[in-house]
Amino acid sequence: MEEFALFGNPVMHSKSPLVHKIFSEQTCIKYNYKTILTSLDEFKKKLDHFFYFGGKGANITSPFKEIAYHNVDCLTKYAQLCGSVNTIKKLDRFRLLGSNTDGIGLILDLKRLGFIKQGMHVLIIGAGGAARGAIVPILNYNCRITITNRTFSKANELAQKFSLLGNIQASYINYINSPEYDLIINATSSCIVDEAPVISLNIFNKNVFCYDMFYLINETPFLRLAQNNGVLKYANGIGMLVGQAAFSFKLWFGILPNIINVLKQLNLFYTHSEY
Ligand code: ATR
Repeated sequence: MEEFALFGNPVMHSKSPLVHKIFSEQTCIKYNYKTILTSLDEFKKKLDHFFYFGGKGANITSPFKEIAYHNVDCLTKYAQLCGSVNTIKKLDRFRLLGSNTDGIGLILDLKRLGFIKQGMHVLIIGAGGAARGAIVPILNYNCRITITNRTFSKANELAQKFSLLGNIQASYINYINSPEYDLIINATSSCIVDEAPVISLNIFNKNVFCYDMFYLINETPFLRLAQNNGVLKYANGIGMLVGQAAFSFKLWFGILPNIINVLKQLNLFYTHSEY
């Protein structure tokens, strides 16, 4: 059977193997999909080893999406634009193709939830690989972005990089202090250490949509914080996970699985809204 894998740290609790098992049943395409835990130092070695010994494709999760970008032989236009890779396909003996399906997974999920409309002011918290994948589709949707991050220089770098594509500005996280945003996206990996990003509570109110690109079985710390401060419309990234996985599957096998059916089967919408 063909071998596929998810590289990340942590990866143990990932739902990706389950999602791919459902895709396999849905499409009758048989393949193995396993998780590979690695470190920044060993990432390249483990990736090369996997593909040398027959791996056909991989997904890349936190915190390796930017390193993966630098360790493939060619890139899709979109991955090149984002500067981050979440999907790799082995093209032939010598070439790995890097792609990014996070953006399409995110935007489809925001649309499914009714969380995004043209002209919205979107606050993105975080400036790593996940944020890179989110910026382009949101700008393409004609929304305005303010990006902030614990380390301001990284947010500023992304705002500069993407400013030709649309309206994006960076802000120091302690300057973010008002309820002016329509949609707030947590693109930090802080939930891995069971924390929410430290940010003013003034951004939360009953009208704002809050989305966490991560997911946990229980509520993520960011969504808990949002709820405790009056937010009624919030969702975690389980829908995005299935969406990005479906487009990875399409890159590998040429078929797009039915995302909504998989979400129903997972019965893990984790979406809460009282409007
Ligand atoms: P990913 O692929 O998930 O984006 P990454 O590239 O390692 O992973 O980026 C992690 C992001 O989460 C960064 O923006 C990081 O902030 P710094 O640039 O300041 O490191 C952010 N992050 C991680 N842990 C955090 C925490 N506890 N509080 C706030 N931000 C955090």
